[in-house]
Amino acid sequence: MVFPKNFLWGGATAANQCEGGYLEGKKGLTIQDMITGGSLHSPRLFRGTIDKTVFYPSHEAVDFYHRYREDIALFAEAGFRCYRMSISWARIFPTGEENEPNEEGLAFYDQVFDECRRYGIEPMVTLNHFDIPWNLAKKYGGFQDRRVIDLFVRYAECVMKHFRGKVRYWLTFNEINFGLLNMGAYKSLGYLEKEDAEKQEFVPKDALHKNLPAQLQAMHHQFIASAMTVHLAHEIDPANQVGCMISHITQYPLTCEPKDMLETQRKDRILNKFSGDVMVLGEYPSYMKRWFAEHGISIRQEPEDAAVLKKGCVDFYAFSYYMTNCATVRTDAAQVEGNLMGGAKNPYLQTSEWGWQIDPDGLRYTLNELWDRYHIPLMIVENGLGAEDKIAADGKVHDSYRISYLQKHIRAVGEAIADGAAVMGYTVWSALDLVSSGTGEMKKRYGLIYVDRHDDGSGDFRRIPKDSFYWYKSCIKNNGDWE
Ligand code: BG6
Repeated sequence: MVFPKNFLWGGATAANQCEGGYLEGKKGLTIQDMITGGSLHSPRLFRGTIDKTVFYPSHEAVDFYHRYREDIALFAEAGFRCYRMSISWARIFPTGEENEPNEEGLAFYDQVFDECRRYGIEPMVTLNHFDIPWNLAKKYGGFQDRRVIDLFVRYAECVMKHFRGKVRYWLTFNEINFGLLNMGAYKSLGYLEKEDAEKQEFVPKDALHKNLPAQLQAMHHQFIASAMTVHLAHEIDPANQVGCMISHITQYPLTCEPKDMLETQRKDRILNKFSGDVMVLGEYPSYMKRWFAEHGISIRQEPEDAAVLKKGCVDFYAFSYYMTNCATVRTDAAQVEGNLMGGAKNPYLQTSEWGWQIDPDGLRYTLNELWDRYHIPLMIVENGLGAEDKIAADGKVHDSYRISYLQKHIRAVGEAIADGAAVMGYTVWSALDLVSSGTGEMKKRYGLIYVDRHDDGSGDFRRIPKDSFYWYKSCIKNNGDWE
């Protein structure tokens, strides 16, 4: 295999899905603390107040908050060179509006990063992984309000200064392109309508197209906040490298009918390329103008915004990759599920237990497309298989299906590197089992390490490395090959 010597092999998590300790260390509430568990067929519900009789998966999650030492020791045993994780904004600024940071929050992450460094693991930190402080969602409607830009940048500046020398790789917003989609608008933008914030319970979906102008305005504010952060990161420490984070949902035409091809291009531009183009090239792409006009979208921009975007282009392109979908103009095409959005079914692909189409070749294709377009280093910061793992009679977890998934995708990365793409790393989603973001389930397990925690809140949080853990260890040891 052709992986570079310093390739960042590792695993990934997000604070809201693994930490728990939701009110410990003076942490404030986040929007994730307000949503219940769900499943593939029953949506997670938003509740404007915490009801003690209801189970909220993020409140304890998988208890990384108390077990990070044990977890990082296991990551080290697997040979991780990189651990992608996120800081919970509300641990540092509990309401998002304080003038001074919460020292207990900073101390917690100091310990986490020190622990990583002890084992020579490079942390890669997402500043906001779907968990904006609840106060900012309720009071400002999240990033809809321009004032939230400064609140985010103050937080980013604080942590980048405090952790200078401990963290060199940063991602600004997780899957920023999800701001366009149903539940994504809530999770990514903290998008809440005033009347929804006051409701006892609602499903934070169906925002798409209903409030598209407001969502795009909020995304604009995130783009500005991100660009300002990139600029600051370089000022604070020239060694800092900052990436975007896009959920790349690669689109294939369902048929070779030219109208399907155009539909594929349209979807790909809106979903994938739009955010990447703004963050890598530093300007709004011309193809969005017509779409904005057709949807009555006119983004309010300040005179300095264009220059801010240009000055804050990211250093590398990070993305999550789970599946590909098909696009078509036909209305009778069979549909499949997907990461926040599904698409037309591809007859050549198998799906996961949760209906996501598995497509390793698509990863090679995607890496090549991204490299050709941007010519900056690429990193796959999420890729993995959600499955209902079980502990076998021998007390182990034999997840051969996950090994096979990872092997095929890692081979595809190797092929893309051989094709000429500059790929700097790969972090498996997820390093250990954690709460599913989409469904709130524990039974949708992605981890290399099993965690004894279940959807009814039972379990003792015991960690059990799965077969995939040992396989991945050998893969890292052999830099992309395995015994
Ligand atoms: C990405 C997110 O959307 O996909 C993660 O960045 C998430 O937070 C992952 O967990 C898998 O999605 P899900 O819904 O299966 O947890």
